[in-house]
Amino acid sequence: MVNFTLNGRETTFDGDPDTPLLWVIRDAERLTGTKYGCGIAQCGACTVHVDGMTARSCITPISALEGSSVTTIEAIDGPEAKAVQAAWSAIDVPQCGYCQSGQIMSAVSLLQFNPAPSDDDIDGAMVGNICRCATYKRIRQAIHDAAKTLEG
Ligand code: FES
Ligand code: FES
Repeated sequence: MVNFTLNGRETTFDGDPDTPLLWVIRDAERLTGTKYGCGIAQCGACTVHVDGMTARSCITPISALEGSSVTTIEAIDGPEAKAVQAAWSAIDVPQCGYCQSGQIMSAVSLLQFNPAPSDDDIDGAMVGNICRCATYKRIRQAIHDAAKTLEG
């Protein structure tokens, strides 16, 4: 049995301890904003925050999360999240949208650790988030816009 916090709520999972966090989120908890892309930590579609850091939920066994705090796209909050979501919306970043919750989780984390990232910082932080629709230029622009908003 694994006890952890999911989006601020105490949660218990008593299935196979090897179950990836992604399936606990999607199947057991019915939170489908976090996406399955590759299953091998190569695309970033499944990105969530674990104890404030990005994590690929597709390769994170639930057994590793005892006592941890997990946040998904459904509950991401705070000034960075608000600025990122507003910037994403303002310039219509998504195309098909499939990768975008993972992109946003990574962008929020970047701005939490680096409030004024350069292009290189953005490229470095976002390199693990693949977009098959190639929205990379808009993602970069939206992160700069969000950083400006946070600057006040
Ligand atoms: S589904 Fe997890 S990185 Fe691709
Ligand atoms: S918006 Fe389609 S995969 Fe990124």
